[in-house]
Amino acid sequence: MKILMVCLGNICRSPLAEGIMKQKIIENGLAWKVDSAGTGSWHVGNLPDSRSIDVAYKNGIDITNQRARKFVKEDLEQFDLIFAMDSSNYSNIVNMASHSSQKEKVHLIMNMTEPQRNITVPDPYWDDDGFDQVFEMLSRACDGIIQHYS
Ligand code: 4NP
Repeated sequence: MKILMVCLGNICRSPLAEGIMKQKIIENGLAWKVDSAGTGSWHVGNLPDSRSIDVAYKNGIDITNQRARKFVKEDLEQFDLIFAMDSSNYSNIVNMASHSSQKEKVHLIMNMTEPQRNITVPDPYWDDDGFDQVFEMLSRACDGIIQHYS
């Protein structure tokens, strides 16, 4: 299974989703691969936001090996599952799909724990207090992904 986590900047939410998912994959003895990307290109090549690095570290996860990259059309072919953090990421990704088989790979990540509610992972970039909540939401969503697909 190859999983891609996608947000807007690839510096706050999706790097956390990647780090959390990788830790749970190890804990569950799975052979899945995980990467992350952003639909925007402002932060390409950058480390995750220091507040994401801090909340991950506080929870025993090191995400400082990650560097931001932009989501590309080929990702729809390369990955089996693509998880968007919010509806804007979701539309941007689906609009780049060339087949229905590619669109079917794309899901709102919170639907993995709270199906069909279309809950959004809030963008914490402008909100210093949002990172703990984002971590907790993504941890639940990643548990849901493992339950659903393993
Ligand atoms: P992310 O957060 O999508 O969770 O990485 C953002 C990071 C940067 C910006 C927006 C959202 N930005 O506008 O630069």
